[in-house]
Amino acid sequence: MSVSAADIELAKKSTLEQILKRGELRVGFEAGYMPFEMTDKKGNFVGFDIDMAKEMAKAMGVKFVPVNTAWDGIIPSLITGKFDIIMSGMTITQERNLKVNFADPYIIVGQTILLNKKHEGKVHSYKDLNDPKYIVTSKLGTTGEQAVKRMIPKCHYKSFETETEAALEVVNGKADAFVYDLPFCVVFMAQQGAGRLVFLDKPFTYEPLAWAINKGDPDFLNWLNNFLRQVKNDGRYDRIYHKWIKG
Ligand code: ARG
Repeated sequence: MSVSAADIELAKKSTLEQILKRGELRVGFEAGYMPFEMTDKKGNFVGFDIDMAKEMAKAMGVKFVPVNTAWDGIIPSLITGKFDIIMSGMTITQERNLKVNFADPYIIVGQTILLNKKHEGKVHSYKDLNDPKYIVTSKLGTTGEQAVKRMIPKCHYKSFETETEAALEVVNGKADAFVYDLPFCVVFMAQQGAGRLVFLDKPFTYEPLAWAINKGDPDFLNWLNNFLRQVKNDGRYDRIYHKWIKG
C-alpha cells in the first residue's frame, strides 16, 4: 500500500475527520465484561457499551466496526491506531490518563466482592480479607487487581486472564474471594451465585467509567462530551441502561 500526501494530511487531522472520511467508527473493547461487552451465542458482540457505540456511529452517520482486543494491550492498540476509541468499561485512573484522554464518565462503579459461601457471616468487607490465609482473585491489568494489591496487600493474590475464570475459582472453592466492578458481580451472582457465593455489594472504591481516545484531539473530545450529554437527557441512555443494567 502506498502512502499518499493526502493520507499523511488526513492522519494529522482530528480522529473525527478520519472517521467521517473512512465512513467507519472503529471501537476497541474486550468482550467478557458483563453487562457492557459480551459475545452472544451467535458470536455477535452485545451489551451496554456496544449499544452506546452503535448510537454513536449512527449519530456520526458512519458504520460501527467492533474491534475485540485483549485488555492487557488495549491502550497501546489505541495509541497505534488499531481503533478510534476505547469503549470498554474503562475506569479513569490518573495513571491511564497520562497516556490517553477520557471523555466525561458515563457511569460510576466501584469494587465489590464475591465471596465463597463458606465464609458467610465471617468476612464482612475487604478489610477482613487482608490475611495471607485468604486467596483473592481478579483480572490482569484491571482496577480490581490494583485495588487488591493496594487495599488488601496481605492476602494471597491470584491473577486471571478473564473475569469469568477469576470468579469461577471462587465458585469451585479454589479461592476465597473475587474482587471486581459492581455491575459484573451483579450479573455473575445472578447467573452462578445462588447457594455458592455471597455478594458483598457495597463498593469500596470510586470508579468513573469513560471512553478513552488519543491525546491531543480536542475536536473529538468535544463531540463525545456533547453526544454523551445529549443521550443522557433524551432517553437513549436510559433505554440502554434499563436494557442491560436495571431491567
Ligand atoms: N473497570 C475496570 C478497569 O478499568 C475493568 C474493565 C474491564 N473491561 C473489559 N472490557 N474487560 O480496569
